[in-house]
Amino acid sequence: MGRAYRILVVDDEETIRSMLRDLLSANGHQVDDAVDTRSAVQLLRGREYDVVLTDLMLPDGDGLEVLRIARSRPYDPEVLVITAYGSIDSAVEAVRAGAFDYLTKPLATQKLLLTVDRAAERRSLRTEVSNLRREVGERYAQKNLVGTSAAMRRVLELIDIVSATDSAVLIQGESGTGKELVARAIHYGGARATRHFTAINCAALPEALLESELFGYAKGAFTGAATDHKGLFEESDGGTLLLDEIGDMPLLLQGKLLRVLQEGEIRRVGSAAVRRVDVRILASTNRSLPDLIRDGRFREDLFYRLNVIPLVIPPLRERAEDVIALCRHFLTVHAGKLGRPPQTLTPDALQVALHHDWPGNVRELENVIERAVTLTSSLEISADEFQRILGLGHVPARPAAAPAAADAGSLQNAEKDTILRALREAGGNQTRAAIALGMGRNTLWRKMKKYGIESRI
Ligand SMILES: Nc1ncnc2c1ncn2[C@@H]1O[C@H](COP(=O)(O)OP(=O)(O)OP(=O)(O)O)[C@@H](O)[C@H]1O
Ligand SMILES: [Mg+2]
Repeated sequence: MGRAYRILVVDDEETIRSMLRDLLSANGHQVDDAVDTRSAVQLLRGREYDVVLTDLMLPDGDGLEVLRIARSRPYDPEVLVITAYGSIDSAVEAVRAGAFDYLTKPLATQKLLLTVDRAAERRSLRTEVSNLRREVGERYAQKNLVGTSAAMRRVLELIDIVSATDSAVLIQGESGTGKELVARAIHYGGARATRHFTAINCAALPEALLESELFGYAKGAFTGAATDHKGLFEESDGGTLLLDEIGDMPLLLQGKLLRVLQEGEIRRVGSAAVRRVDVRILASTNRSLPDLIRDGRFREDLFYRLNVIPLVIPPLRERAEDVIALCRHFLTVHAGKLGRPPQTLTPDALQVALHHDWPGNVRELENVIERAVTLTSSLEISADEFQRILGLGHVPARPAAAPAAADAGSLQNAEKDTILRALREAGGNQTRAAIALGMGRNTLWRKMKKYGIESRI
């Protein structure tokens, strides 16, 4: 016997109700039953069910109504519809409207039990996933954004406002200022919190690959496209997609993105079919989009569409108050990781931190503090020590547009992974992989050598 579930049976025929009640309780489940929509709704409001089995034709309405009300309950049960032979069309409609499956009368016992089990199984998986997402969400909630400066308070306020909406948000700020953290706080603070959050770096992939990652492709769209493939817009349906480094998105794709934003529609590469998607788009950049527009490298219409609500995170050097709060925060976090009591910075050491210009922003500050905690053991970290530790990983000041040193590494990893994947998908055929990657065969060969990728995969 499998697990026991709570099941609601809705049918106006007494014979069907008692047959289902007997059969399901004999298999260990708890069963309630209702004779019409009205009493079903009452029960649905009163207690939680794992699975609802409903006839499509009811004396005071139809099963679709029961389906709608059941799925809108917070415990969100799976619904199976029962239909008389000959009315398959409405059963299919019910599945489209969110029913798990349909069963035709006369009911076959074994199939019925199996389907109920599968439905209940899916519900518990769904619950598990959404609990996990909630836990992840906790980690990315607004309260994890440290900062008390006026600028940061404004950012937190804006996050609150935009979390409650579904509009696109453009998050601007230098590298390491917390753009991705802000994007996550927006997602996990809103109605989509239990759905997917995905981030993709638009600068890390060659154009053709970025397009198929985002939009998916149809079988045969290009060499190596052996099956249909969903892109990130479809994968993120119901959730949020962060387009990181949006300034690096090629112009052609910018046009297609505009269509997603305006119409909520996508077309897979190599397919004529238009698909609807419900994705919240967040975009981030550390470059000046107006400059890129002036150079003809970014579409002005897309900029306005994305920039409905601009969210600018100022560089850390302009937020002295936050430097202090962040130092304290990371001292506690990293001491905690080592199981030690938190250290403090002497007032002079704090002055050093305040006068540093933090070209790598919060990411740099966190690294420095982590190093300080690891390398010192005194309860107080002196100015000299702090200065020395700052110097250890000194990144020379650089123009805001250049990617951070830390990013170059992850960029290269992303490129290596992409190449490996393309090669695998092309069955090791380098010419085909090069086409899929949108690069010349020689370029691919050079990169394989650079990353030490064997020619046979
Ligand atoms: N206000 C903050 N409070 C706590 N941690 C922060 C804050 N801002 C940034 N961080 C931390 O700093 C690091 C860098 O943040 P994040 O990756 O979000 O920056 P980014 O702006 O996306 O950088 P890049 O442009 O390089 O992608 C992360 O580890 C993040 O958790
Ligand atoms: Mg980022």
